[in-house]
Amino acid sequence: MSTESFLPYGRQQIEQDDIDAVSTALTAELITTGPEIAAFEADLCEYTGARYAVAVANGTAALHLAVLALGLPRGSIGVTTPNTFVATANALLYAGHTPRFVDIDAQTYCMSPECLAEFLDSAPEDNRADVVLPVHFAGNTAGVEAISDIAKRYGLRVIEDASHSIGGKYRDGSRVGSCRYSDMTTFSFHPVKTMTTGEGGAIMTNDPDLYRQLMLLRTHGITRSPEEMTQNHGIWYYEMQALGFNYRITDIQGALGRSQLRKLDRFVARRQELVDGYNKAFADVPWLTTPWVEPDRQTGWHLYVLQFDWDAIGQDRPTVMARIREQGIGSQVLYIPVHTQPYYRETYGFLDGDFPVAETYYENALAIPLYPGMTAEDQIRVITAVLNLA
Ligand SMILES: Cc1ncc(COP(=O)(O)O)c(C=O)c1O
Repeated sequence: MSTESFLPYGRQQIEQDDIDAVSTALTAELITTGPEIAAFEADLCEYTGARYAVAVANGTAALHLAVLALGLPRGSIGVTTPNTFVATANALLYAGHTPRFVDIDAQTYCMSPECLAEFLDSAPEDNRADVVLPVHFAGNTAGVEAISDIAKRYGLRVIEDASHSIGGKYRDGSRVGSCRYSDMTTFSFHPVKTMTTGEGGAIMTNDPDLYRQLMLLRTHGITRSPEEMTQNHGIWYYEMQALGFNYRITDIQGALGRSQLRKLDRFVARRQELVDGYNKAFADVPWLTTPWVEPDRQTGWHLYVLQFDWDAIGQDRPTVMARIREQGIGSQVLYIPVHTQPYYRETYGFLDGDFPVAETYYENALAIPLYPGMTAEDQIRVITAVLNLA
């Protein structure tokens, strides 16, 4: 094993000002859902350009609340991509809906707008789908504009799972999270993501009704606003108007989120530099395919995923992962296509081969380290280890 420090596939970047912000929040009067959360939400709106933000406990809770806030009848159909973390599809199940998948685009690894259109065209007119959840895989927002157009044509609501892409911009220059192409956009602030609150997430929207629903559902469906109540017993009175959850996030995390958000553009710029470095180093390697780089937009770059030709190097993925790990380099496989998970197979009867592009992508994928704290020397170590595989 290498004696040099271990380089994981992703990690948080915590600096002194983050520590200071957390210390201040920790010794404040209110340490949960106090002023730091409201300020974090305002900062998220200012950064993304959306009108409303609701900060929640994690990205999964953000997806769950987003789906619920639409108020669709149970049994509605939601369409997403198999190349995502299980949380995206699970959010539909939590709300009692039926998850369906459409395949990814072979170049972008995101939901293919063509496959979505085909799916909708071939579905029965009275039971097509009600909501579509595109996922910005690795930070890539490609296809979202087209998906939004298709959704409008067929009357579908759109929730963008932007867990990977805060800090990115669309082709028109608007920021991910502005909800320019969707009803709601969700973020995850898990430590491997582009910015972190430890655990955390947020939902962005421009719709005041959705915002009200999201705020209600975040705290048990309870309102304390006298103007929203059906009766009022006094100043202690609160009213439960829907079945909600405790999906709140602490002020301590809000303070960290605010501090991280101030540096997000720097984090994204550093990630882009590292991506450029990898792309240059691997451009002419015949057994590697570098990730699609959209020429016309800024990418949040959560992950750097290579496609390997295992046969060409005569080694399988476990061998490659073990070999680079020996040199102190982590790697990860993202994502196992959701429809191949036993739960989804057994409950919905999905089969191998149902979404062949996502399955082939998965067979060949390996993410290598990408995070803003990586030094030039760290990156050279990773590049050398990968190039030495063959
Ligand atoms: C695409 C995607 N969706 C949803 C989630 C869920 O986010 P969280 O881990 O914050 O609940 C993640 C995080 O792993 C993710 O990568």
